[in-house]
Amino acid sequence: MSEKLATLSFSDGKPSVDFPVFSGSVGPDVIDVRALYAKTGMFTYDPGFMSTASCRSSITYIDGDEGILQYRGYPIEQLAESCDFLEVAYLILNGELPNPQQKTAFDDIVTKHSMVHEQLSRFYSGFRRDAHPMAVLCGVVGALSAFYHDSINIHDERSREISAFRLIAKLPTITAMTYKYNMGQPFMYPKNKLSYTDNFLYMMFGTPCEEYVPNPVISRAIDRILILHADHEQNASTSTVRLAGSTGANPFACISAGIASLWGPAHGGANEAVLKMLDEIGDVKNIPAFIKRVKDKDGHAMLMGFGHRVYKNYDPRAKIIQRTCHEVLEELDMKDNKLIKLAMALEKIALEDDYFIKRKLYPNVDFYSGIVYKALGIPVSMFTAIFALARTVGWIAQWKELIADTDQKIGRPRQLFTGATRRDLVPMAKRK
Ligand code: CMC
Repeated sequence: MSEKLATLSFSDGKPSVDFPVFSGSVGPDVIDVRALYAKTGMFTYDPGFMSTASCRSSITYIDGDEGILQYRGYPIEQLAESCDFLEVAYLILNGELPNPQQKTAFDDIVTKHSMVHEQLSRFYSGFRRDAHPMAVLCGVVGALSAFYHDSINIHDERSREISAFRLIAKLPTITAMTYKYNMGQPFMYPKNKLSYTDNFLYMMFGTPCEEYVPNPVISRAIDRILILHADHEQNASTSTVRLAGSTGANPFACISAGIASLWGPAHGGANEAVLKMLDEIGDVKNIPAFIKRVKDKDGHAMLMGFGHRVYKNYDPRAKIIQRTCHEVLEELDMKDNKLIKLAMALEKIALEDDYFIKRKLYPNVDFYSGIVYKALGIPVSMFTAIFALARTVGWIAQWKELIADTDQKIGRPRQLFTGATRRDLVPMAKRK
């Protein structure tokens, strides 16, 4: 029982009502309003969940004002510097960093699940070659439930475990196959001797005609990008996964729902939108005119890769990715790249502009990730698909947490109804 209470009083003389206040381990307290309707006959109104904690979670913590992001308590900067992606995936899934034996066993099991059912390869030919990779991903990941019936009993812990391994292991294969299908090149089977990230790059860029040699700087950059995107508490796609999961839907269907939600340009689709915006601006000299359009809210123009619902400070992921971006451009001898110069000039101008300062709009993770992908020759339409591959770890951890939570119920928001009240039907012949 909570000791702290919040009292809700009314201006029309109705008696006031008390609600318990809960504290987490860190972050704002929450008022438990679950009994609000029973006690008052009223709902809360909170479109966009601006002030609503939809669940309790012990996975990821963000302090948006301070620009802090932690997975299971560990600062993102330390994880991005010292760990590889699968180490971070283990942490997110299990709550603790693995010891050397646990890491070897985890890498081994993920590696051994990386191949997909051969019949799934033929599923791709139902799509147009020029289909957007996110459309293909939604379809193929949803279809996994039709291929792996044996692990969709959500009430069995071992089944949940196997689905988690399958999703984390197969997403690089499925994502790379999406790219290969798009390119008209043969699918590359995963190679178990390669690391998770090298294997993904091999399946993307290798061909049967020549030996693929991984570049350690590029592998490290992609691995770091995967770490930065692995989880981000209750964002739109994670909340979508949780909402779908609350109905008892199988994990493959839930992750497919998450992919659909991530696709939007206000969410994961922003990395693609940043590149389109930079292309549209074209030259440093055009920045002032573009910024003016954004400020005038002309034709819905927005500075893509800027702003965040939670971060009202520099997104800590953006700082790390900016450094990584410079490392990659140096390695590829692209330091004088026009795009990076344009992005940096745009960032500088925006950070000094009153419009952005007043609204606390800072660069987010997507501002620089697209430039790294572009430098590596990854087509713009694949950017959000790589985000989905990384975020699968967070989605599946959040889904597992939801299933194990005794407070969990089917997600079913209510509404403030503003439509017509009851009226009688007029026969067609009498309608004007
Ligand atoms: N460019 C111009 N103005 C902006 C921007 C932007 N990128 N973002 C917010 N604003 C303005 C907005 O118009 C509003 O102005 P006003 O007060 O005059 O009406 C004010 O800032 C507050 O914005 P909001 O829409 O209430 O903020 P929100 O928390 O609902 O939206 C957001 C957050 C991320 C959807 C939004 O900032 C945005 O659309 N940014 C561009 C897309 C983007 O980069 N998304 C990636 C997010 S990070 C990756 C991920 O986690 O998915």
